Amino acid sequence: MSDFSNKVAIVTGSARGIGKTIALRLAEAGATVVVNDLSAAVNAVADEIKALNRQSLAVQGDVSSSADVNRMVETVKNTFGKIDILVNNAGIARDQLVVRMSDEEWESVLNVDLKSVFFCTRAVLRHMIRQRSGRIINIASIVGIVGNPGQANYSSAKAGIIGFTKTVAKEVASRQITVNAVAPGFIDTEMTQRLAEEWKQELQKRIPLGYLGSPRDVAEAVAFLASDEARYITGQVLSVDGGMAGAWM
Ligand code: NAI
Repeated sequence: MSDFSNKVAIVTGSARGIGKTIALRLAEAGATVVVNDLSAAVNAVADEIKALNRQSLAVQGDVSSSADVNRMVETVKNTFGKIDILVNNAGIARDQLVVRMSDEEWESVLNVDLKSVFFCTRAVLRHMIRQRSGRIINIASIVGIVGNPGQANYSSAKAGIIGFTKTVAKEVASRQITVNAVAPGFIDTEMTQRLAEEWKQELQKRIPLGYLGSPRDVAEAVAFLASDEARYITGQVLSVDGGMAGAWM
């Protein structure tokens, strides 16, 4: 396991699910972890991290608000003095066929899933550029690569994250900052537990490895991209999907 002692990480949307697992994984490896979420449940995650004898700070806030994001990043800088790793994980889904999709369903998903990635990245880059080091890992989705009926808003946001990742990687490479995306497939979390049982069984049949991924599978890929060992990897999209996106259907 790579050592993250002396590294400061921010993980957005980390009150539960994949984000919480990423936060705990980085903390297990020694990182100081700032946990953010809309939900107050994020305080309990910070307590779990402190119980591992790591430093942690809970920042409740909305990543689709630039004021909340800028406040969070300033607080982190003032508290810990630096920011080494940003994991843009917060996300929502509001599924609907495009002909029935409301303005609100479109805008809320684009705001939380894509605009937030811009706000958080811009805010941390101001510090990482001065530091001349940093790791940014954006949680996209295979849906942003292959599409999925009912998810025009979500797949557009996730495809947007991929374009953003590749562009920012090029903008900041000379400062030794890497920017990559992880594209999970079908992962067992509260987001997917809400899907209808028959649809879940249908999706499972399309996973070559034959089972749903766990949040830990995603967290391991994030930890690798955040590590010193991944220093020469930037602008990439790593699918963690049991082979799903590449499968012939
Ligand atoms: P989840 O719904 O269990 O957790 C998402 C967390 O983000 C929640 O704690 C929620 O409160 C927080 N959040 C939502 N809006 C926020 C905002 N405006 N500001 C701050 N926090 C906010 O979701 P899950 O499954 O853990 O997903 C995490 C990420 O992984 C998301 O970006 C999702 O799109 C992505 N993903 C998930 C997949 C899955 O199969 N579960 C597959 C592909 C991608």
